[in-house]
Amino acid sequence: MTDANSIISAMNLSERRMKHTFGVAEAAKEIAKAHFPALDLKAVELAALMHDFTKEYSVERQLELCSQYNIELTEEEKANHKLLHSKTGAMIASHRFSLPTDACSAIYWHTTGKAAMSPFEIVIYLADYIEEFRDDAGCIKLREFYRKAMKKELDKTTALHKTLVKSFDTTIKYLISDEKTINTHTIEARNYYINQLNAIRF
Ligand SMILES: [Fe+2]
Ligand SMILES: [Fe+2]
Repeated sequence: MTDANSIISAMNLSERRMKHTFGVAEAAKEIAKAHFPALDLKAVELAALMHDFTKEYSVERQLELCSQYNIELTEEEKANHKLLHSKTGAMIASHRFSLPTDACSAIYWHTTGKAAMSPFEIVIYLADYIEEFRDDAGCIKLREFYRKAMKKELDKTTALHKTLVKSFDTTIKYLISDEKTINTHTIEARNYYINQLNAIRF
């Protein structure tokens, strides 16, 4: 496994996205410590640093990487290139920087989320949403929601699952208002975590 400096020096991101990336690294470590203390914090930090590694690549370069790594694209991904960076980033994390499989999987799923995410996947997904530098209304609200839930709920897992549901709701509402397609993994994720909460209630 590589070190943080090797990733940072290979990164070619705008100042704004670098700030976001460091924000994700800090948030990911905090979320991991609060909910999944068994996770390797070094691997968490590296996955966070890598999560948007290819986000500013051109569409052509993204597609080249997809063919190089035999990444199969869904119809939605072909139409919405924003989703490609999760997959190409995961491949580079694995092949170029030798990150562990669970870290690469967390990068792979960080945009859409999915049902039954692993602890590592939850940490990177949520950190990407609520890191302190994200300043759009949905992210600010979710950050506040998570902080309040962590104070209010006796069970930290309930606070975490409620925050995950809220995040999927926020994404889905935004996509509907913007007349965009909704990734099926995001819908499945929402349903899964609602069921997790209902299983506690009854
Ligand atoms: Fe991303
Ligand atoms: Fe990000």
